[in-house]
Amino acid sequence: MLLLPFQLLAVLFPVGDGEDAFQGPTSFHIIQISSFANSTWAHHQGSGWLDDLQIHGWDSDSGTAIFLKPWSKGNISDEEVAELQKIIRVYLYRFTQHIQGHASQFQLKYPIEIQIIAGCELRSGGSIVNFLRKAVGGLDFLSTENDTCVPAPEGGSRAQHVCELIRKHHAIINIVMKLLFDTCPQYLLGILDAGKAELQRQVKPEAWLSSGPSPGPGRLLLVCHVSGFYPKSVWVKWMRGEQEQLGTQHSDLLPNADGTWYLRATLDVAAGEAAGLSCRVKHSSLEGRDIILHWGQPISIGLIFLEIIVPSLILLLCLALWYMRRK
Ligand SMILES: *[C@@H]1O[C@H](CO)[C@@H](O)[C@H](O)[C@H]1NC(C)=O
Repeated sequence: MLLLPFQLLAVLFPVGDGEDAFQGPTSFHIIQISSFANSTWAHHQGSGWLDDLQIHGWDSDSGTAIFLKPWSKGNISDEEVAELQKIIRVYLYRFTQHIQGHASQFQLKYPIEIQIIAGCELRSGGSIVNFLRKAVGGLDFLSTENDTCVPAPEGGSRAQHVCELIRKHHAIINIVMKLLFDTCPQYLLGILDAGKAELQRQVKPEAWLSSGPSPGPGRLLLVCHVSGFYPKSVWVKWMRGEQEQLGTQHSDLLPNADGTWYLRATLDVAAGEAAGLSCRVKHSSLEGRDIILHWGQPISIGLIFLEIIVPSLILLLCLALWYMRRK
């Protein structure tokens, strides 16, 4: 039975999904990466994530979780944390034994690399989606869909066999389903609340223009840099007046070290057509006051002074000195 705090859901996902809808992360997942070098050596890496923000690590020596944020525990008590750590330790121990014990039966050759991702996601309107995917040697192996095990085509007969084994072990299924359907959503809601000061913060972007390497003779690459914004969702376009330039290309969203984001929008234009273009940035933190940067606007007097007048003066001075020496 699901005991979701529906009031909290209503706060995070207001009906109608307007501009002020919750913009932060909406999913929690854990990642397990297990390496088996040979029949006696195994190592497990574990981590916990809110979308792309890591909030947990796993110390495999002590078998304890590392909480990377002051709010990483969410609303679970220290006793529950201790209980979950115990479950994970037992699970990793059994997992190791299982893989090492069945490697030859499953025709697995060392070194063996196993990756597992499992978690839950809140969709607007309050529905919850769970996911669990497992890969062996970098290839999809199995996943769950509506609490049944689905072998991946890449997993071949081995994946089918493992899914059959899992289906027979109702105890395992029950534990996994309880964690995915019950613990995960409740924990996710708790953590979105505990970390809301950080997760729902609004940080304004800075933007600046530069030119990139010329794409060809007589052509210019206009680059609009947008950096330091949070949350991640942003709109950046090259414009001519109110006209969006369809040739605008976007880089990947790159993370800054402080958890904010960086994006670059470029436009390849004929050199003669660059005048009159501008870069426009929309972001929730700007509250409708878009940033607009015009290409080729006169540079400031200060810059002219520094870049042209000062070097010219120095050059003149040198010439004068040279003449005086010659005389
Ligand atoms: C197993 O692998 C580990 C790590 O690579 C290595 O240190 C160890 O010597 C190996 N043991 C055997 C029996 O091959």
